[in-house]
Amino acid sequence: NLDSCKIVSLPKIPDRRGNLSFFETDNQIPFKIERTYWIYDVPGGEIRGGHAYKKQNEFIIALSGSLDVIIEVAHTIKKISLNRSYEGLFIPSGIWRHMENFSTNSLALVVSDTEYDAEDYIRDKNIFYNFCDENAK
Ligand code: TYD
Repeated sequence: NLDSCKIVSLPKIPDRRGNLSFFETDNQIPFKIERTYWIYDVPGGEIRGGHAYKKQNEFIIALSGSLDVIIEVAHTIKKISLNRSYEGLFIPSGIWRHMENFSTNSLALVVSDTEYDAEDYIRDKNIFYNFCDENAK
């Protein structure tokens, strides 16, 4: 269920020269990082990432600016706003998610425990609901 999605506070090393944050496999992120991608230059009002993954886990950080992540499983929906460079959202496999309400200059970093695999995507809501039902058995 959605409790498996967690906001993770990342270390923040404040410094008058500028702050520094980081994440490490096993310490802040409960998986081995295989891929990193980022979403940027999103025009106002656009929505990205309306899908679920069968296997991959991911971790999303608003490195700059802000965005909302809408997560859903088996008809329960929750909105999580990301707006800090030192906080990330862990989303395990089997959760539908999309990202919206990107601010100007928003930069969303996503790390994942798999290489890109189009076969891992569930892009159809009804197929996703069936997937949730199967998982609940
Ligand atoms: P996709 O994950 O489908 O984004 P959205 O759900 O927001 O539409 O990715 C868009 C395109 O980018 C798709 O054609 C696949 C490609 N892509 C890669 O090649 N590698 C990646 O790591 C990702 C995330 C996407």
